[in-house]
Amino acid sequence: MRIQGGRPLAGTVRASGRKNAALPLMAATLLTTGPSTLDNVPAIRDVFAFCEMLRLLGADAEYQPAEHRLYVNPSDAAPAPIPHRLARSMRASYYLVGVQLARFGRAEVPLPGGDRIGQRPVDQHLKALRALGAEITVEQGCIRARAERLHGADIYLDLVSVGATIHTMLAAVLAEGTTVVHNAAREPHVVDVAQFLNACGADITGAGTDAIRVRGAGALCGTAHTVISDDIDAATFLIAAAITGGDVTVQQVIPHHLQPIMAKLREAGARVESNGNWVRVTAAGRPRGLQVTTLPYPGFPTDAQSQMMALLALARGQSRVTETLYEDRFRFVPELVRMGAQLRVEGRSTLITGVSRLDGCPVEATDIRAGAALILAGLGGRGTTTVHGIAHVERGYENLAGRLRALGADIAREDD
Ligand code: EPU
Repeated sequence: MRIQGGRPLAGTVRASGRKNAALPLMAATLLTTGPSTLDNVPAIRDVFAFCEMLRLLGADAEYQPAEHRLYVNPSDAAPAPIPHRLARSMRASYYLVGVQLARFGRAEVPLPGGDRIGQRPVDQHLKALRALGAEITVEQGCIRARAERLHGADIYLDLVSVGATIHTMLAAVLAEGTTVVHNAAREPHVVDVAQFLNACGADITGAGTDAIRVRGAGALCGTAHTVISDDIDAATFLIAAAITGGDVTVQQVIPHHLQPIMAKLREAGARVESNGNWVRVTAAGRPRGLQVTTLPYPGFPTDAQSQMMALLALARGQSRVTETLYEDRFRFVPELVRMGAQLRVEGRSTLITGVSRLDGCPVEATDIRAGAALILAGLGGRGTTTVHGIAHVERGYENLAGRLRALGADIAREDD
């Protein structure tokens, strides 16, 4: 992606559907016996790859990217091994263990991949599935799971994990008896998945709190559902407005889900307005330095940490960003430093001494959000920035260059 920096962004953009809701919802369609339609599904690489996995499992999955509509008919689905190539292309492939176990009593799924931002073990997922009665082995890079029928259980997650919370819900909906997930993640996408499942006939209460109760259902039917909007996609555009001294309105968002982002942008000196389903950020001059600590929802999201760091690299004064979820999410710091940022990683924190300009140069995206952060740094910097490794960005953002261009950015994918 080649970016010519220095242009303030202005205009209106729509947030996409939420990646981290769409992927578990796609997995959830396999739990039902009838067709489902998902709307507002983002046209991103992870969705395309997940569609391929659904088809390998025998489901009829038809995705219309222009309409953002996915139709899934899982009535002919059957267990099948998932190739390493597909499972490793993302994190969310782990959901296929729980849904196949629940529906077919067996599953074989390679260990997931996804962003290399930390060790990212799946011990809590496996602990929960075992508590529901599954026998699980991990051999040759593959999770192999079996169960006659899953049964409800009381499950305490040792840490707040979005993936393990959603995975446990997915596995428990067809189990015999009641499951309670304690210390559950409270992210809005947990609620979105629960709402879809309840519309299919499941009985889930407490999603959005730290205790979720799932009463097992005999069978689920399909339904129509609209994926909630992507707070991180929206946050990326709002931070882009701030870093370029622009004026951007992001539509089709749930402003309440963006509270931490809005609060930090205000602290940084931007004007932030919101109403109904939009948020507007207007900024001029350099931002102010501040402190950010990532935490599970409703704390500041780790997936917006890198983008915030790009903004703070240009702030007046000092900032400190503390990452509490992933030990390697500062891997992209040397790339920002290449552009002239003054950053020093000290354990779980990065200390930032703001500079008045970043200079474009070739940099490398190491994960989805690091790639987005480097694009933002390029937009707010001077001269030409070339971000390599754009495939990472395309796993999670729909047409990022095109949407930034519509706001006035000078950005193009080199092979376009
Ligand atoms: N963890 C464990 N054991 C587990 C599960 C998680 O130790 O069994 C740890 C993780 O290593 C991490 C913390 O718990 O330190 C939280 O991880 P969580 O399970 O919440 O994350 P995830 O399910 O692996 C999802 C998103 C990530 C997002 C996190 C946090 C998907 C496909 N991925 O990952 O999205 O950062 O939740 O919100 O839903 C992204 O979109 O860029 C991205 C990385």
